[in-house]
Amino acid sequence: MDMEKYELEHIEKLRAIAPECMVLLKSDGSFPLSEPCKIALYGNGARHTIKGGTGSGDVNVKHFVTVEEGLENAGFSITSKAWLGSYDVKLSEAREKFNAGIKSRLKGMKPHEAIFILETVMPEPDYDLPLDAEGDTAIYVLTRNSGEGADRNVVPGDFELSETEIRDILRLQDSYEKFMLVLNVGGVTDLSPVVDKVQNILLLSQTGMTIGDSFADVLLGKSYPSGKLTSTWAAWDDYCHEGSFGDADDVKYSEGIYVGYRYFDTAGKNPIFPFGYGLGYADFAFAVESVTLEGAKVTVDARVSNIGRHPGKEVMQLYVSVPAGRFDQPSQTLAAFAKTDELLPGEEQVISLRFAMYELASFDEKISCALLERGDYVLRLGNSSRNTVVCGVVRLGDTTLVERLSDSGGLADPTWSPDNPVRLPNPEPLRVLELNAVDVMRLRPEMHEHDSNALKIAASLTDEELAKLCVGGYDGAGEGGMIGNSGIAVAGAAGETSGILRDRGIEPLIMADGPAGLRLSREYGVDENGVYAIGGSGPFDGKQDMMPDEMLAEFKKFDAPERHGEIHEQNCSALPIGTALAQSWNTELCELCGDIVGDEMERFGVNLWLAPAMNIHRFPLCGRNFEYFSEDPLISGKIAAALTRGVQKHPGCGVTLKHFACNNQEFNRLRSNSVLSQRALRDIYLRGFRIAVEEGRPAAVMTSYNLINGEHSSQREDLLETVLRSEWGFKGVVMSDWVMPDFAEGGEEHKYPGACANGSVGAGNDVMMPGCEQDYQNILKALGDKTCEYPLTRKRLEKSAARVIALSMKLNKARKESKN
Ligand code: BGC
Repeated sequence: MDMEKYELEHIEKLRAIAPECMVLLKSDGSFPLSEPCKIALYGNGARHTIKGGTGSGDVNVKHFVTVEEGLENAGFSITSKAWLGSYDVKLSEAREKFNAGIKSRLKGMKPHEAIFILETVMPEPDYDLPLDAEGDTAIYVLTRNSGEGADRNVVPGDFELSETEIRDILRLQDSYEKFMLVLNVGGVTDLSPVVDKVQNILLLSQTGMTIGDSFADVLLGKSYPSGKLTSTWAAWDDYCHEGSFGDADDVKYSEGIYVGYRYFDTAGKNPIFPFGYGLGYADFAFAVESVTLEGAKVTVDARVSNIGRHPGKEVMQLYVSVPAGRFDQPSQTLAAFAKTDELLPGEEQVISLRFAMYELASFDEKISCALLERGDYVLRLGNSSRNTVVCGVVRLGDTTLVERLSDSGGLADPTWSPDNPVRLPNPEPLRVLELNAVDVMRLRPEMHEHDSNALKIAASLTDEELAKLCVGGYDGAGEGGMIGNSGIAVAGAAGETSGILRDRGIEPLIMADGPAGLRLSREYGVDENGVYAIGGSGPFDGKQDMMPDEMLAEFKKFDAPERHGEIHEQNCSALPIGTALAQSWNTELCELCGDIVGDEMERFGVNLWLAPAMNIHRFPLCGRNFEYFSEDPLISGKIAAALTRGVQKHPGCGVTLKHFACNNQEFNRLRSNSVLSQRALRDIYLRGFRIAVEEGRPAAVMTSYNLINGEHSSQREDLLETVLRSEWGFKGVVMSDWVMPDFAEGGEEHKYPGACANGSVGAGNDVMMPGCEQDYQNILKALGDKTCEYPLTRKRLEKSAARVIALSMKLNKARKESKN
């Protein structure tokens, strides 16, 4: 296959990166194999491997390597071709039946009502095919897909294993000498029916375009898995069911701060695989070298030794048990982590884990402040959340106010907390470090957000021009576009800002999706009207077989007229999905991934990457969890900051942290209301964003579709202007998630309306994306009309337009200069 130099370089880097994102969950030492051999390959993911989930995060690549292909590339001889062929037949029969079912559900519906149904993922079918392929080694690749617009379901073949899968996996474990279950999944699958019996389990995850080759490298020990879980894997019944999930209107986060391991540890539930867990081919021992406190900064040095027979890398994790008093507290909270370099057998390394005590403060809703309560903060060092040793205690004599914050985010009912919280054992500590209360005060960032030149330009514009700058590519580009594909300057880009100031040298900002790489259309044409995308990159491509004829005809209206002209390619690299990147627990590796994306952004003329996506894995069924990093805000924030640094070192490139905030389910995502306490909001759902803003300095933030405590997140001035900007020092552009007029306003009756442009811009959501006539009119109507629900002042509009102008000037100037 013909490839350019940059493509080959990116592939080579990604092939080496992917194994670090894989997690070895069980091992009896049968793997790695010493050489390529005859291999019996089974399972839905063997040939139909998934490189990343579906939706706007799916990257259009020239080619990606499936597991079957990767094994063959590496010299394995696959003996189960008959099984793979028969499975294909079963799959296409099941797909036909499934599509017919969807088609009949969609009869009589309007396209905008169909969007969520079209996203429904087909559960795995049942079948009975002989498992008799030759060889003494078998691999079963289990796949699950999910994506935007639909959540996962607790049914066999989706969250649960199907009867066929359970039967086949257990048979293979019994009948082959060496057997590995390989999980090509984007999130948790309930493995309880097989986990005790199967001896080798690898979470391959969805690790991008080199997935098959990288897997073969791991199987042969040319590389090794060194990832750890960033979310707890448990049986369905053991998840926290205190709050609600999947409700159309109000989704109650009654579990409060008890998300993920914070719940499992404190409620005394045993997961299948705990947070932070992962094996490698190597074995490691660790010991505490030193624990120090300087001001508020804690440093734990850990000595890690490879005591095994293979090379590997280990991730050390530092947890803290925060004393409960006025606040209830989870048994432990992740405070820091660090990964070793590659250690050969017999090698050791001392690594440092650092954090500041004020990062452990809890938000007090009564006084809107962050506090550290008096007592003993017990430090626990380990290589998973369930394998730690106490390594010291930081003692705080008096309850201390760390930071004055604001009463932001609205109010919810009081939340649940476990009746008998588990307190982890606290043996007589070796080291007690006294913390001085004055050291824990957190300083407010300096605010000099406004670019006076941009403000001056904005002040000179008419109301109409200002309104256009605040509604995306309204001057033509956004009109008639579909979600995720409304850009015009770059084919397949998701959108762009208005080009009305082009003649003054202010170019639009071009935005393209992520997070598993850069999403553009792979081929595009150029004719006298400009560029146009070839082949699908819209959300309904590949779904035509599910649509009734009349709906297909409706969609045809969106088709561009026949075009001609020269054809070009823009080949982008598919990275591991967000969860997989986080599973590396390696911020340098993530910076390198950001670098790959930044390089492609520069190459194809994109300014803003619509990623990283960093919502919390609140519940394992969220259809987009695979795009997000973790159930824990610290790891989410650190990984997002690293990706940001990687992208933003490229001139003219910025990231867009999304979806701010509490976008934790897909069902009715435009109008679902996340109801949660301010403490849970601050300490869990906003914390990762704060870390990414403070450490990464992102160019942009995208608000979420949903409401937070009764108001759309894009219409919450308290979160956008007060928390994001004043408290955290964010200085970029805030944009909405992509709202098409039909999707926001049409459809069944719901308790809450969609967000509106005037409400959003008025609250500091600077640009409505992708932008349309209705948004533009809403802004103009609200200007100066004090009687409307969301009035707007010209000053406010100028401020938002100035932010768009400033970012556009900054990024486009940097790009121009780098080219000269
Ligand atoms: C998604 C965003 C995405 C945008 C543009 C929306 O439907 O929620 O994550 O960036 O479309 O494609």
